[in-house]
Amino acid sequence: MLDTTYRVHILPGALDAVGGVARVAVRAHRYAIVTDSNVGPLYGERVREALSGQAADLFTIPAGERHKTRETWAAVTDRMLDAGFGRDCAVIALGGGVVGDLAGFVAATFMRGVPVIHVPTSLLAMLDASIGGKTAVDTPAGKNLVGAFHQPAAVITDPGVLATLPVEQYRAGITEALKHGVIAEAAHFDAVAATAAGIDRHRPDARAISAIIARSVEIKSAVAYGDYRESGRRKTLNFGHTIGHAIEHLSGYALLHGEAVAIGMCVEAEIAERVGVARAGTADRIRAACAAAGLPDRRPMDLAAEAIVAATHGDKKGRAGRAEYALPAAIGGMAFGDRGWAAPVDDAVVLAALA
Ligand SMILES: NC(=O)c1ccc[n+]([C@@H]2O[C@H](COP(=O)([O-])OP(=O)(O)OC[C@H]3O[C@@H](n4cnc5c(N)ncnc54)[C@H](O)[C@@H]3O)[C@@H](O)[C@H]2O)c1
Ligand SMILES: [Zn+2]
Repeated sequence: MLDTTYRVHILPGALDAVGGVARVAVRAHRYAIVTDSNVGPLYGERVREALSGQAADLFTIPAGERHKTRETWAAVTDRMLDAGFGRDCAVIALGGGVVGDLAGFVAATFMRGVPVIHVPTSLLAMLDASIGGKTAVDTPAGKNLVGAFHQPAAVITDPGVLATLPVEQYRAGITEALKHGVIAEAAHFDAVAATAAGIDRHRPDARAISAIIARSVEIKSAVAYGDYRESGRRKTLNFGHTIGHAIEHLSGYALLHGEAVAIGMCVEAEIAERVGVARAGTADRIRAACAAAGLPDRRPMDLAAEAIVAATHGDKKGRAGRAEYALPAAIGGMAFGDRGWAAPVDDAVVLAALA
């Protein structure tokens, strides 16, 4: 039986409580704080100080998805070994989803597995990547192809650090929160849409965004742990991602994941209406919410629809070369519950939805 029980602390100022939480959750003799070159200078010392006297070393990796690799994993584990870290250590992942995935994989593999505490600092990491226990690195063959399931001992989320997050990264997190609303709860979708509207002019207030993070965490946990690993209901979390991944890849990663998935949600909701599983107007509501948050709601016109369809066939979620889709029945609920929560769709329908 896998132990998937851990606490998620969401509170402005929670960064300063890392020491107390770590003492209760893992009782390690030494901590490896893994962070990146943007987040480290902003919050690294603060977290080290919060550990108040418990031994801790800071390991800083270069920021960015292109460093989420086996090479970076090797560099971090080598440096930990050089510094004399042993079985009695724990990893603290301080950063966005890239740090979370990489440091999580370090923790999953170092000495055959040591505890990890996630301290997510991007909105996407707070409401999505830090929950569920997936860790991975990318390889030249694709994203997240080498990794492990490794549940955190605790998650410490301080919405106060969002003050320094670039607005386009903030928006990218909003996409996944909207997705949680579509797959599980219309009221959450409406709350996220209202909070994110006009995000260019003013950042959401701490209380509103804390509530959104908390609800998204509950939804993702219920879906991820209600059905552990990639079978069944967990597939609904892929809503927007079959088209989204294809567009993200074809754009040469010029589009952020959250931007590509926003387009993916709009297109896949359109597909859902066209195949007759979604209530009319579902796609319009998603497009309106994306537009109000400053997220793209249609494919970039320089990406041909045919190329996007072809790219979906390479998606690792597809079976036997046919792309599978998790599609909404309405805002707040997903279709295909009677057949594993995803189904293949004819290319012609996908092309029409992209047109
Ligand atoms: N494990 C999962 O279940 C899961 C789920 C979703 C996404 N992911 C992974 O997460 C990654 C994307 O995460 P991301 O969007 O957080 O990207 P990221 O980690 O690259 O962070 C985005 C950028 O924001 C910076 N940043 C983060 N927090 C900051 C802060 N508070 N202030 C200033 N700058 C800050 C980072 O340095 C980086 O430049 C991808 O690799 C994706 O595969 C994993
Ligand atoms: Zn995503």
